[in-house]
Amino acid sequence: MSTKYVWDRFVRLFHWSLVTAFAVAFVTYASEWDRLLHAYAGYAAGLLILARICWGNMRTGYANFHAFPLHPIEAARYIWQILHGQSKRFIGHNPAGSLMIYALLADGLFTVLTGILVYNDGWLIDRSELLQTLHAWSSWTWLALVGLHVAGVLIESILHHDNLIGAMITGFKRRSKKSELPDHMFHVKHRMRHRH
Ligand code: HEM
Ligand code: HEM
Repeated sequence: MSTKYVWDRFVRLFHWSLVTAFAVAFVTYASEWDRLLHAYAGYAAGLLILARICWGNMRTGYANFHAFPLHPIEAARYIWQILHGQSKRFIGHNPAGSLMIYALLADGLFTVLTGILVYNDGWLIDRSELLQTLHAWSSWTWLALVGLHVAGVLIESILHHDNLIGAMITGFKRRSKKSELPDHMFHVKHRMRHRH
C-alpha cells in the first residue's frame, strides 16, 4: 500500500504531550495536595498550545493552518455529507475535524488562562468566584470536546478505512485513490499544493 508522510514529528509529539498534560490536569484537579501538579500540567498544556500556534503559522504542508482553514459552513456541509454517506476522504484534517481542532485549541487556552487567574487569586482580576466558575465551565467543555473529537476520529477511521490513531503515531497515512479525492472547492488550493 502506498503511504504518504502527513503529520510531522512536532505535530505528533505536540498531540500526545497535550493528551498527557490534559489527563494529568484532570486526574489532579480535585485534591488540594495535587494542586501544584495540576497547575504544572496546565502550564505545560498552555505552552504546548502556544507552540502549536507558532508551528501552524511557520510550517508549510499539512501542519500549516492554511491547510485546514476554520470554515464552519464547510464543516456543517461535511457532517451533512457523512450523514448521507457522501463524505470524501481528506488526507489532512477534514473540515469538521478542522473546526474541532480550533475549538480544542481555543478552549484549551481559555482553560489555562482562567486556571492561572484562579490560582493567583486577586493578582489581575479580583473575582475569584467568577473565575472559578469560568475555569470549571471551560474545563468540562474541553472534556466534552475531547469526547466528540475522539468519536469523530473513530467514525472517520471506520468510514474511510483509515487508521487515524496510527497515523498520529507514525505520521504516515495511506494515499487516496482517485475516487476518494474531495471534489469540493474548499480544498482545491490545498490539493494543488499537496498532492494526494
Ligand atoms: C486531551 C485530549 C486531546 C486533545 C486536546 C486533542 C487535540 C488534538 C488536536 C489539537 C489535533 C490537531 C493536531 C494538529 O494538527 O496539530 C488532534 C488531532 C488528532 N487527534 Fe487528538 N486530542 C486529544 C485526544 C485524542 C485521543 C485520545 C485520540 C485517539 C484516540 C486522538 C486522536 C487524534 C487523531 C487521530 C488526530 C488527527 C485527526 C485527523 O486525522 O484529522 N486525540 N487532536
Ligand atoms: C489543562 C488545563 C487545565 C484543566 C483541564 C483544568 C481542569 C480543572 C478542573 C476540571 C477543575 C475543577 C473545576 C470544578 O470545580 O468543577 C479545576 C480546578 C482548578 N484549577 Fe484547573 N485546569 C487546567 C489548568 C489549570 C492551571 C494552569 C491552573 C493554575 C495555574 C489551574 C488551577 C486550578 C485551581 C486553583 C482550581 C481550583 C478552583 C477552585 O477552587 O474551585 N488549572 N481545574
